[in-house]
Amino acid sequence: MSAARRMIQEAAAFPDIVADPLDAAKAAAARYAVAHRVRAGQRIALGTGSTAAHAVRALAAQFPEGRFDCVASSEATARLARSLGLAVRAPEGGDRFDLMLDGADEVSPRLDLTKGGGGALFREKLLARRSRELVILVDPSKLVQSLGERHRIPLEVVPFARPFVEQEVASVHFRAHRRLTPDGRAYLTDNGNEILDLAPTVPLTEPAVAEQALRAIPGVVESGLFVGLAHLVVVGRPDGSVEARPRRPGPTDPSPA
Ligand code: A5P
Repeated sequence: MSAARRMIQEAAAFPDIVADPLDAAKAAAARYAVAHRVRAGQRIALGTGSTAAHAVRALAAQFPEGRFDCVASSEATARLARSLGLAVRAPEGGDRFDLMLDGADEVSPRLDLTKGGGGALFREKLLARRSRELVILVDPSKLVQSLGERHRIPLEVVPFARPFVEQEVASVHFRAHRRLTPDGRAYLTDNGNEILDLAPTVPLTEPAVAEQALRAIPGVVESGLFVGLAHLVVVGRPDGSVEARPRRPGPTDPSPA
């Protein structure tokens, strides 16, 4: 068994029934990460979304006396964590986290990510950059060959600039779709910004180049391309098994926080 592809049967240890197979897979990934990467008392950055919520529940369940020092990437995650007894505070200038636990919308073979389906990409990337280890938890449906293949790439934009950004992304090979709420209003992030969901018009072969090009457009706050940030991706499966994929560092990776 290779270290990079460790298959671990945990279904017997955690016999809770989860009706949706993909949700069962997310829960398995979360339980594994909390059991194998977390120690009591750590500074932890909490991601956003249904998989990150599983991680929050696993933290509270597996470390009832954990006394973690947590910062959350969204109001929703902060509310969930506090409701389970975890201490969540506002960020402080010197913050460095031991670990960030989060989900993703897509994971490429190089472990680059698309994130922001839940609209929290700016805070997620900010906290990820300040984390010694970014652990990403996914179900198998998130694995792709190329980012943008199955999920549009979210872009957080200043509302005033949104119409300009919507046009300008065409010059860097994206088509923009303004994110709306179910009742047709502009979707707003926790930061009061809008989201454009971008469909690549050519295959996204160089996500780092695309990320730079998008961030250079005036009015763009952050993109949902997370390049070279994930240290470990844990793929959960509906049967409770998991596969842990550590990152192999590349020449373009950012230096650690
Ligand atoms: C939140 O903004 C996102 O980055 C989520 O991490 C991503 O959308 C994955 O969400 P699920 O865990 O709900 O699939």
